[in-house]
Amino acid sequence: MKKITFKNKPIVCLTSYNFHTAKLLDKYCDLILVGDSLGMAYYGDSTTRNVKLEEIIRHGKSVKKGIKKSFLVVDMPFGTYKNRISAKKNALKIIKETKCDAVKIEGGTKISNIVRYLVKNKINVMGHIGLLPQKIRSRKDYTIKGKSKNEQKMLLNDLKSLETAGVFSIVLEAVKENVSNEIVKISKVPIIGIGATKHCHGQILVLEDMLGLFEKVPKFVKKYLNLNNLIEKAIKKYALDVKKGNFPKNKNIYL
Ligand code: KIV
Repeated sequence: MKKITFKNKPIVCLTSYNFHTAKLLDKYCDLILVGDSLGMAYYGDSTTRNVKLEEIIRHGKSVKKGIKKSFLVVDMPFGTYKNRISAKKNALKIIKETKCDAVKIEGGTKISNIVRYLVKNKINVMGHIGLLPQKIRSRKDYTIKGKSKNEQKMLLNDLKSLETAGVFSIVLEAVKENVSNEIVKISKVPIIGIGATKHCHGQILVLEDMLGLFEKVPKFVKKYLNLNNLIEKAIKKYALDVKKGNFPKNKNIYL
């Protein structure tokens, strides 16, 4: 199993679904995730649950082509790790076909036996606790975790179970600041935050969210660009050019 050590701290992570963005990300990121947010951010679904194994593999292969140095993690889609045997078979298929360095699966204590089995079979596993998108059926189900004492206790148990099972890192999504800080303080593996504390060992965002491709994004997203506006402006200009006969010009045709 490839040994994972992150030289840079804080660890810079982003998602990518294709060669072109992966090539750009590779210059600045330590870790690139082919997340199953693919379903929502790329295919326009209302949940991540429709992403298929073959789809994530296709996108994983494309991303891998754009990467020279970053650590590549591919999400295991919903329904592909129902038990230890199917999890191992599907994780090995993802790794063999995409040549990624690790897979990520969602869940804590409940899936720790699966994680343990994968790690025992020399598969690098990244955990994902807090808000679990694969459990969500519609956008309104997105709520922050760690508010009640019971949720806090569950999150700490999830952390312990995953650590013991052998994950190399954990994504912590949409968790209250005080609980996030407690998790970061006691964790033995790097915690990558998305909607968690700035004290996490690293941060991750969905690329399309931070580029401003969508109007509505969760509070934890910082938009570094308004890509939606820029794309619309360009399309509008193109449409006008075509209608007015301003495109193509001589320089755009084969004289
Ligand atoms: O699917 C995804 O993009 C993710 C990130 C939000 C961490 O799991």
